[in-house]
Amino acid sequence: MSQFAIVTGAAHGMGQAIALRLVNEGYIVVAVDLDEEGLDQLEQKTGDKSLIKKNGDVGDSTFIKQMLSEIDSSRLRLLVNNAGVRWATSILHSTDEEWETTLRVNLSGPFYFMRETGRVMAETESECLIINVASVAGLVGFNNRASYCASKGGLVMLTKAAAMDLAPNNIRVVAICPGFVNTNMTEDHAHTLVDKHVPLGKSGSPNDIAQAVVDLTQWPVATGSAIVLDSGLTAGFRW
Ligand SMILES: NC(=O)c1ccc[n+]([C@@H]2O[C@H](COP(=O)([O-])OP(=O)(O)OC[C@H]3O[C@@H](n4cnc5c(N)ncnc54)[C@H](O)[C@@H]3O)[C@@H](O)[C@H]2O)c1
Repeated sequence: MSQFAIVTGAAHGMGQAIALRLVNEGYIVVAVDLDEEGLDQLEQKTGDKSLIKKNGDVGDSTFIKQMLSEIDSSRLRLLVNNAGVRWATSILHSTDEEWETTLRVNLSGPFYFMRETGRVMAETESECLIINVASVAGLVGFNNRASYCASKGGLVMLTKAAAMDLAPNNIRVVAICPGFVNTNMTEDHAHTLVDKHVPLGKSGSPNDIAQAVVDLTQWPVATGSAIVLDSGLTAGFRW
């Protein structure tokens, strides 16, 4: 019987690539997103019945509990906390809404998802994996990214703490920290930044990140780690 994987933020970008790849790998994918139309488009791309769409907000724990009660959670083996938002504002011009929404989606969402799915996964008594899509902005500071960096730095630490709590239940928890990846979130001028600052001179693709997700399912001793996938962006300074 197929295993279930939940992917949040599955309507676009990396989440979409991860969802499609996991369907190809044989999972039944529960695709979560705020964007209902985007989920419909994803469903058309899968072309089969291995996708369950769940339209809702990752920052709403009631939605998450309801969603889990509607799937066969005894077969849940993988959660990818990928949904995220980002403003590009200096702390001097940030609004309360920017701060609160960024923390709610990027940090509270993964917290609620890990708590609720962790409870369900523990009951399965099977090896399970949770992947949190953080960012290099959770490891080093970037200008005009105060709320985003805070949320992603929090997510890296949340990953480590959750890995400690969930290890006795055979649930691994890993963060991945992409650098530049070509999606709707990437600014138009990103390619000039990549040329200037990225040692390998290239950004990642959503499929590169999907590959990392699949690889992590095969790494039985990886837990509590923050794996950097940034073409060398944070490796050091170029003189
Ligand atoms: N693109 C990059 O360069 C980059 C780099 C590092 C990390 N990341 C992280 O990767 C993840 C995916 O980013 P992306 O580039 O694919 O972005 P994207 O904007 O293309 O996709 C984000 C998805 O999340 C969904 N979403 C937003 N708020 C939501 C909510 N409250 N509830 C449910 N769904 C919601 C959106 O509808 C969208 O489908 C994010 O967590 C982002 O912070 C992106």
